[in-house]
Amino acid sequence: MSKDFYAALKNRRSIYGISKEQVVSDDKIQEVIREAVKYTPSAFNSQSARVVLLLDEHHDKFWDITKETLRKIVGNDEQFASTAEKMGAFRSGYGTVLFFEDDSVVEGLQSNFPLYKDNFPIWSHHSSGMLQFVIWTGLEAEGYGASLQHYNPVIDDQVKKEWNIPDSWKLIAQLPFGKPTVQPGEKEFQPLEQRIKVFK
Ligand SMILES: Cc1cc2nc3c(=O)[nH]c(=O)nc-3n(C[C@H](O)[C@H](O)[C@H](O)COP(=O)(O)O)c2cc1C
Repeated sequence: MSKDFYAALKNRRSIYGISKEQVVSDDKIQEVIREAVKYTPSAFNSQSARVVLLLDEHHDKFWDITKETLRKIVGNDEQFASTAEKMGAFRSGYGTVLFFEDDSVVEGLQSNFPLYKDNFPIWSHHSSGMLQFVIWTGLEAEGYGASLQHYNPVIDDQVKKEWNIPDSWKLIAQLPFGKPTVQPGEKEFQPLEQRIKVFK
């Protein structure tokens, strides 16, 4: 990672304008994902996160599937036109990271530690959120722009079929990324004094 931690933290934004132009090698993208999956923490070190990286025609196929699935759901043509435009914008990117959590791991924890039964699905999502953030920020630090999307659960069956995903993997989020073509707008921040209390 070439930027320091705080610079990466500040520079990570939701980038919706992305292109297929390569910024770093596919090996580098895989390194970002491998490091993130390996070192992001999980409850009881359960390592329930699963990731699928879609590049080239797989990335295009994913956004075609999502668009066609939404076509059947979105009521009128006018509404679908803006949905189709969004799908087209994501498809214009370089790749997509799919985030899953393995339900069989969560269920195993629930039966082994019944005291925390209700917490394991929540912690599984916490851990996935951490991983999403690390990969999002890691890709940003390498020069790609990304945004976080949630077209699950309507696309789940199609995705599982197309990429032969194990049944126990639950789709949580999608991160389309590519070379930024649009700068993000100004972001408003609430006063930190209203959000943080310090006692010393
Ligand atoms: C848990 C979570 C869910 C989000 N879901 C979506 C989403 O479904 N679609 C989307 O375009 N952005 C989504 N976002 C992006 C937020 O809208 C965005 O991060 C926020 O407005 C701050 O902007 P920034 O990412 O540019 O800093 C999500 C962000 C988080 C943390």
